Amino acid sequence: MPRRPPKKIDPALDLSRHLLALADVPEPLDPATLFSRPAPIELEVGSGKGLFIDTASLARPATNFLGAEIAAGYARLCAARLARRGAANARMIQGDATWLVRGLLPDACLAAIHVYFPDPWWKARHRKRRVLSETFLRHAGRVLPAGGALHVWTDVEEYFEESLAFAAATELFADPQVVAARPAEHDLDYRTHFERRTRLAGAPVWRALLPRNDRPATVTRGA
Ligand SMILES: C[S@@+](CC[C@H](N)C(=O)[O-])C[C@H]1O[C@@H](n2cnc3c(N)ncnc32)[C@H](O)[C@@H]1O
Repeated sequence: MPRRPPKKIDPALDLSRHLLALADVPEPLDPATLFSRPAPIELEVGSGKGLFIDTASLARPATNFLGAEIAAGYARLCAARLARRGAANARMIQGDATWLVRGLLPDACLAAIHVYFPDPWWKARHRKRRVLSETFLRHAGRVLPAGGALHVWTDVEEYFEESLAFAAATELFADPQVVAARPAEHDLDYRTHFERRTRLAGAPVWRALLPRNDRPATVTRGA
């Protein structure tokens, strides 16, 4: 589906407390240092227009949310949503989330990772751009502690099955729990913008929650 360009953001809006560039973060990055008070941290990979990070951080103030979005315009859009309401428990990083997870985050530092409707990259020669790769899933297992959770939702069944197979191969996740859809009660009652588009088009969505098991990760940061 084609994407519209992000909306204009009020230039007077101060994004400095809600947006930072991946290029500017230290290595390793202790994500707790990004927030003013300690709380479990959940990472969203590919925040798009920011519906999830905005609504989840509002609904769950006792959790800190970090969004990673590679597209600068969308990262600014998400940060603007958070800045407009002065969200203290959510901020955005603009940059490649796969490098954030693989190269920058220390072991067991997140409570959950959310990956909603990752770009499918249909063409064979583009497959290597998929976020949910074997390497990403190994590192997702590394940065999640036992009891943490990886959430994967997509409208592409083949990508869903491939991701579950990669996750199983890491041996770091318990069997995936299939998450059922529930009827939306209003127009913003969707987890993400792409979920809304997909469901309004009558297309299926595949959803899984993968609990992190208690096996130690063998991969090291940056590998
Ligand atoms: C299909 S959109 C889905 C957006 C949102 N999750 C939703 O469900 O509405 C995929 C998003 O992932 C972002 N993205 C793709 N690769 C990324 C990466 N390596 N790191 C961070 N964001 C990425 C894209 O820019 C885009 O905003």
